Order: sequence, then structure tokens, then C-alpha cells
Amino acid sequence: MKKLKIADGIHMLTMNVEDILFEGIWEIANGVTINSYIVQGEKTAIIDGVIGWDGIPETLYKNLEEIGVNPENIDYLIVNHMEPDHSGWISNFRKIKDDFTVICTDKAAKMVASFYGEDKIRTVKEGDTLDLGMGKVLSFHPVPNVHWPDTMYTYERDTKTLFSCDMFGAFGKMGDHCFDDELTPEETEFFESEGIRYYSNVMATFTPSLKKAIEKVKTLGINTIAPGHGPVYRKNPEKIIDDYSRFSLYAEGAGKNEITILWGSMYGMTARAVEHAEGILRRNGVKYNKLEMPRVSTSEMLATVFKSAGVIIAAPTYEYKLFPPVAEALNELGRKKVTGKIAFRFGSYGWSGGAEKELNEIIERNRMGWDFIESVEFEGAPGEEDLNKVEAGVLELLKRMKEKVVD
Ligand code: FEO
Repeated sequence: MKKLKIADGIHMLTMNVEDILFEGIWEIANGVTINSYIVQGEKTAIIDGVIGWDGIPETLYKNLEEIGVNPENIDYLIVNHMEPDHSGWISNFRKIKDDFTVICTDKAAKMVASFYGEDKIRTVKEGDTLDLGMGKVLSFHPVPNVHWPDTMYTYERDTKTLFSCDMFGAFGKMGDHCFDDELTPEETEFFESEGIRYYSNVMATFTPSLKKAIEKVKTLGINTIAPGHGPVYRKNPEKIIDDYSRFSLYAEGAGKNEITILWGSMYGMTARAVEHAEGILRRNGVKYNKLEMPRVSTSEMLATVFKSAGVIIAAPTYEYKLFPPVAEALNELGRKKVTGKIAFRFGSYGWSGGAEKELNEIIERNRMGWDFIESVEFEGAPGEEDLNKVEAGVLELLKRMKEKVVD
């Protein structure tokens, strides 16, 4: 666990977490940080916690003491969001101190009670404040569904610091550099990429709510954005606001100037057409990502399709339906409400067709609104005429995806 000073009277404690499935689902190949913040006036508040996963509360308490905070003197636990990556330490804290007040929204209060049996709770609504003394005044700003219904921002008025919890967060471990102005260009790129993965895996379902939360930030006047996961933005908070605005567009069909080939092949017939499509992309100098399902994790698949302006689905018919690993991937994209992509599908069939029918059902059922170029299906191996049709489809995709590019 690391300790960092954000401003006079404001500190961050941050811990890297690895070797878990985030939310019990998501592979986090590059880990994740969990950040907690302590604001000290005459009274002391701790905003979100960090120890739900490490099981060693003493680590936190030792670190608090090293920044001059006696855990027994903490007056307020501010729960921006009840998900246990941020709140899982509350019961443990209760064991060493029984006189503190939990501050959260009314929706969080119900869960704080049911998860942890807490009843000394002060609920807050938009604009409510908490004066800690010595110039430190916190205000509270609910941002529901960012990412559960209970979520809120906490804002420190003196330093104009926004404690945004999941909003503006990213996967990825932090090394020695935890502030935006310390990050190397490679680290900046790393956290943008991990931000896309985080947004697509955890937040994408709630894009309409995130867009409202972005608008709310713009009304507050921000010097520093201090999220619950990933780096703190003190030099250029607009950078992460702009990133999240762009990610919200990716969720609605825009993307980087690249194509993702989401593909699977039973015995190599569809794979021949994939190789042909790759040749066309290479000749046209187009960046592309090739995801063979089911070899790629769902986390990686979501992030890669999410950020692409164009999608090629290459999958055969399997037992009257779409090749199952590709069908599952598309269903997951639908569950995450990744809408409006421009796409092109081709694939082989043997003794029966059916892939196209299921593809249409998935897109309809999930209300994905993807715009498809006419599919190409071929019996067995693709012949020359089939490959010509694949080429025509790929070229049409390249033409039409231009309107979706937002880099
Ligand atoms: Fe970082 Fe929704 O929890």
C-alpha cells in the first residue's frame, strides 16, 4: 500500500490488487488499484476504503498512522459507492472503533445496512455539505448508476478535488507514478487502454448515466479528479473527462480507426476467408485486431470490439446456429449495451445453414442496432467467387466505418 499527499490535509492510500477476477468475472491481466482518500480538518473523513480484498486491516491502520491519522479519530466514513471493493472494510473498522457515522445516499444506506449491519448512517442528497473545519468542506452529488444506483461524487470545495469513485477509473496497477503529471507517455497510453477495458467491462451498461455524470462534473469546477481506481488527475483533469466522453461514444458505435475480426472456425473453412480478409486489410494499411473465440478472454474481447469503429464477424454455422463462442461474445456485447457498430459477417456452412438467423436474433434481442453490410455465406470451403464477395464486403466496411471514427 502506498501513501500520497494530494493537498494539505488530503491524502491518498492506494493498493495494487492482482490474481483475482474483478467482480468475480473479469480477468485483470494487468491488475487494478483501489484508492482511498482521507480528508482532515478539525474532523477527519475517510472516503471509500481499500482493504476489502487483502484481508489485512492492520496494513491500512499502520499507513493511516504514518500520515498522521489515528484510525480511532476518524469521524466519518463516506461511502461513495457500496460495491465491496470500496466498502468491504467497514465491518472490520467497526471492530476497532464504534463511534463513527457513515455518509452515503439513501440507496446506499439500505445496502450498507444489509451488507454490514450498520445503522448509524447519515443520508445525503444533491448539494448537501459536511464542514470538517479548517476550511475543508465536502459536498455530495449523487450520480446514480455510476455504477450501481447508490453512487455519488464527493467534492472538496477548498481544493476543488472530486472524489469520483468508479467514474474516471481504470484497471491497471500503479507503479511509482500515481499522478497524471508523473506518467510517462507509455504509462499514459497504458492507463488509457486499461480505462477502455475498465469502461467496457464494468461501466458500459450504464453509458446514459455516465454521460449525465460527465455533465455534472462540468458544473463543479475541478482542479483534481481523484478516482477509486487508477491515477489521480491534478495537472489535466480534462484529459480523463475527454477520455470518458470518447468511451461513451465507443459504447454507442464510434471507435478508433481500426477493425476487430471476431472469429471462430471449426475445421479451417471460415479461417481461409479470414486470411483473405486480413490480406485486404493489410493492403489497405488498416489496423486490425484478430480475436479467435473462445481463445480470448471475455474481458479482452469486450474491450477490443468496444474500441473499434468496424467489426468483422467471421463464424460458421454450428448445429443450425451461429458458432457458439462467437454467439456468446455477441450476447455479452449486447448485455453491455455496445450498440450501433458497423459490421460485416461471413462464414461457412455444411449440412445446414442457420448462423445468420441466430446472428439477427442476437442483435434484435439485445437491441444492439448494429448496421450490417450484406453477409457472405459459403458451403464448405470458400471458392473464388465467395472470396471476391468477402473482399467487396470488407471494402464496403472500410468505406462506411469512416463516419464512426473518433480517435
Ligand atoms: Fe469499484 Fe463498482 O466498484
